[in-house]
Amino acid sequence: MPTPPRKRPNYQAKKAWQRPGPPQGKPPFKSSAPRGPKKEQGWDQVAGWYDKLVGERGSDYHRNVILPAAMRLLAPAPGEKVLDLCCGQGVLIPLLLEAKVGGVTGVDASPRLIESAKARFDREKRVELMVADACAPGPWADGSHDAAACIMAVHDVPDLPAMARQLANALKPGGRFVAIFMHPCFRIPQQAHWGWDEGRKLQFRRVDRYGVPQEIPIVTHPGQGGGDTTTFYHRPVGQVLTAFGQAGLAVEVCEELFSHRRSQPGPRAKGENRAVQEFPVFMAIRAVKLP
Ligand SMILES: C[S@@+](CC[C@H](N)C(=O)[O-])C[C@H]1O[C@@H](n2cnc3c(N)ncnc32)[C@H](O)[C@@H]1O
Repeated sequence: MPTPPRKRPNYQAKKAWQRPGPPQGKPPFKSSAPRGPKKEQGWDQVAGWYDKLVGERGSDYHRNVILPAAMRLLAPAPGEKVLDLCCGQGVLIPLLLEAKVGGVTGVDASPRLIESAKARFDREKRVELMVADACAPGPWADGSHDAAACIMAVHDVPDLPAMARQLANALKPGGRFVAIFMHPCFRIPQQAHWGWDEGRKLQFRRVDRYGVPQEIPIVTHPGQGGGDTTTFYHRPVGQVLTAFGQAGLAVEVCEELFSHRRSQPGPRAKGENRAVQEFPVFMAIRAVKLP
């Protein structure tokens, strides 16, 4: 029989995609959802924390997994106009500029994150940044973009079909769209955890709930006394892909991205390292807007 997950003494709560794969422990979120009226504060409340966390070059996962995959799948060509939807503080933008794109439209609902992005790209004439809801029509959804990216935000928007429709509106016919998001099957906050099977010396992934969409409150930095919450919208993978397909975005590539992290040598290292190569952290898709 599998033994319960062991406790990590210096456990620090972090978002799941910042968490290393191999070590066992509690889920990276406050384990119980707040009771009573929902205290959704959105990303603006946590903008300072998030900006610091991501910094100029991205979090560890951004640098090693997410951004390389995004650029490889998007393959922006010089001169192209690219939309960065839910751009946050703009972590993807320097890579797009290095690729010599002709223009970047960065859109995010958080005024403070857009302010941070503006502080970075103020002098860059190719970058236009705006505060807007990705799920509603806006000046950015104008059919002028050759390509679009949505990085680590598919699970942050309340109405994914609406966002997919606006994405399609933003693209030219034949335009490319890349999304990278928490793997809907294996990385469900509060509902998916690592465990250790002592008999078989293997690390397993336990998934308690999957098939029903969930709104999961995330306490972003509980250790720092803030306790600000954002909402993670879990959707089964079929719902995610269908939202894009019904908007006329035909998925041509679906990749599952694994952690780059490896365990320190020790009695569990082999089992832990095997597990991180079996259970992906992120899902990446590339879709094309149908004519
Ligand atoms: C995890 S952050 C990712 C930001 C950035 N793409 C990155 O990789 O650092 C999620 C972002 O989605 C944005 N967001 C959430 N809901 C949104 C909405 N309805 N419209 C626009 N942006 C939204 C948040 O403000 C936040 O910046």
